[in-house]
Amino acid sequence: MTSTLRNRMMLVVGLVAGIAASLMYSASAETPPEKLAATPSVACKPSNLAVAGGRTLKAEDFEEPQACGKCHQRQMKGWQGSMHSLAFKDPVFQAEWALAVKATEGKALNDCGGCHTAIGVTTGTVKFDPSMGKHGGFTVAKQGEHGVSCEVCHSVSGSTAKNSPTGQPGNASLVLNPGETKYGPLLKSVSGYHETQYSELHTKAEFCGSCHNIFHSENKFPIEHTYDEWKSSPYAQADIPCQDCHMVPVEVANQVADRMVRAKDVPNHGLGGLAAKGAKVEREIVHDHGFVGGNAVIAAALGSPGAEEHKAEALKRLQGVADLDMDVRVGKGGAQELRVKVTNLRAGHHLPTSLTFIRRIWLDVAITDDQGRVILRSGELDANNRVDEDTVIFGNHSVDKAGKPTINPWEIASFTQLNTIPPKGFRFGKYAFKLPADAKGFKVVVKLNYQSYDQAVADKLLGKGAVLVPTIEMKALTRSYGADLKMVEARTLASR
Ligand code: HEC
Ligand code: HEC
Ligand code: HEC
Ligand code: HEC
Ligand code: HEC
Repeated sequence: MTSTLRNRMMLVVGLVAGIAASLMYSASAETPPEKLAATPSVACKPSNLAVAGGRTLKAEDFEEPQACGKCHQRQMKGWQGSMHSLAFKDPVFQAEWALAVKATEGKALNDCGGCHTAIGVTTGTVKFDPSMGKHGGFTVAKQGEHGVSCEVCHSVSGSTAKNSPTGQPGNASLVLNPGETKYGPLLKSVSGYHETQYSELHTKAEFCGSCHNIFHSENKFPIEHTYDEWKSSPYAQADIPCQDCHMVPVEVANQVADRMVRAKDVPNHGLGGLAAKGAKVEREIVHDHGFVGGNAVIAAALGSPGAEEHKAEALKRLQGVADLDMDVRVGKGGAQELRVKVTNLRAGHHLPTSLTFIRRIWLDVAITDDQGRVILRSGELDANNRVDEDTVIFGNHSVDKAGKPTINPWEIASFTQLNTIPPKGFRFGKYAFKLPADAKGFKVVVKLNYQSYDQAVADKLLGKGAVLVPTIEMKALTRSYGADLKMVEARTLASR
């Protein structure tokens, strides 16, 4: 009885406050409230995080996701298998973070934590414990354990992007203002549980870019630049933000990329409905919050709820992103040359993006002649689950300031080789081979493969054999040619 009454009271208060807030917003559109705190908080340095009004936050200022999930079931279902929910717990991250904290005399605690556990950093509750795990581990108030949680994103009231080296979003350039008000994309939103505030920022790629652009905090090198890649892509020109591909099912995202339209304009997207239990109006799109990328390893390894759905979506995403084609011609010195063309059809940024020096996308190529002789083999996994140096790998090579190869973010000072595939663009893998004089024809089998990490990296971080890094076949193409290099049979291509 009492609680129903309280809820109703809150609903009324919420309604009035909601109208007042939306009036205030439209009345002072030039100076929205988020402009009030655009300078990163000293206590969060070197991260670009800020706390609105310079408040000192306690863990209790944030709620745990389970509380939100009671009414926001659809959002909860998607989020809970996502890498956002694991951004603090992820053992691969924690191992690298521990090495970083030790190498930087503690500076990396806030630096890395700003994006991976913004709650831990803004409440000062995140601590390094050298006695945990293989390399050391971390503890944080329970609200901070949920990584990039509902409360992290929906307490964002503004941006500190102006303070980053290029004035672009990056290094957690977010202002957090936790409490009664939840900031989000809905106009005229009313909840009996909390206040609401319309935030245009949440509908923009700049919101995601706050954490999906990473600069080295000292040498300023742009280590990961998914937002920058997007910004100069055809998707940005068509006004298609990250949200339209990563907060809807992969099937809808594929349509977005093929038609180059907003998710809301995909015919029969079927995503309309209520944004919460007890909501009064149907919304054109309710975002499923799956944030699916390429990671099909961690959620499944940790047995998180929703891991299997997330993995299935990640596979669908990887298997739909690229296209393969090939041709064979007479190359230099009379040898034959195979060219494999890989096109980035559906990623709104480079393929791969972000950890371009860690993710592995490579070509596995086999050429056999009509008598079964192997003429060329490249990109085959060896007994250690690794490919050799000559393999065509799409990614970047990172080095430290002395030019020595390193994949540790705190050491990276430059990239020496750039080989990622731009959005809607393509790259070639080239192979020279010599067909035996008595061969009447040959067959080419090409596969495009994905691994989240090199097995050696996983072994170093997690312990040898702790995880067998799976290989995901993104695409395959088989063709047969005569000795005259004319194609005689094309499979896969026809079914494209
Ligand atoms: C990584 C940041 C992020 C996280 C984590 C996150 N959200 Fe959201 N949420 C957004 C963004 C961005 C939008 C707006 C998308 C748009 O309109 O383009 C949104 C939209 C919403 C909406 C409006 C209705 C809809 O779905 O479009 C609700 C309600 C919501 N989120 C609740 C939640 C809850 C509950 C959780 C936790 C289970 C959560 N969010 C986690 C970023 C986040
Ligand atoms: C600006 C935000 C930001 C900062 C700062 C940041 N990260 Fe991350 N980190 C990310 C994002 C975003 C991803 C996911 C990228 C992807 O999956 O493609 C990620 C992923 C990772 C991963 C891969 C995890 C996995 O399982 O695949 C590791 C390891 C990692 N970060 C380590 C670090 C370390 C160490 C630091 C500090 C030196 C750091 N990060 C600082 C945003 C950040
Ligand atoms: C008792 C139910 C209930 C709980 C619990 C709840 N919400 Fe809501 N929330 C709603 C309703 C109802 C709406 C209005 C939906 C609409 O307007 O379509 C809403 C709207 C929102 C919006 C959209 C605001 C906007 O203007 O875009 C966000 C974001 C949000 N909630 C986040 C959260 C978060 C984060 C939590 C957990 C801390 C949470 N909610 C807990 C019921 C709830
Ligand atoms: C507060 C920082 C933060 C914000 C804001 C944020 N992310 Fe993330 N995101 C991360 C971190 C950290 C990870 C990596 C977690 C890990 O792998 O350990 C990540 C992971 C991801 C992944 C999964 C990558 C994979 O390998 O599968 C996707 C996709 C993603 N984010 C998309 C988005 C989108 C879209 C938005 C905006 C709506 C957004 N993120 C906003 C910090 C953030
Ligand atoms: C047109 C659809 C589309 C848009 C727009 C888009 N992405 Fe993606 N994204 C994809 C696809 C497809 C993949 C899988 C291929 C890959 O891993 O690069 C992906 C992968 C990712 C990954 C995981 C990369 C990895 O393998 O570790 C992250 C993180 C990510 N996107 C973040 C973002 C952010 C942030 C934005 C906006 C700045 C964005 N995406 C815009 C389609 C899109």
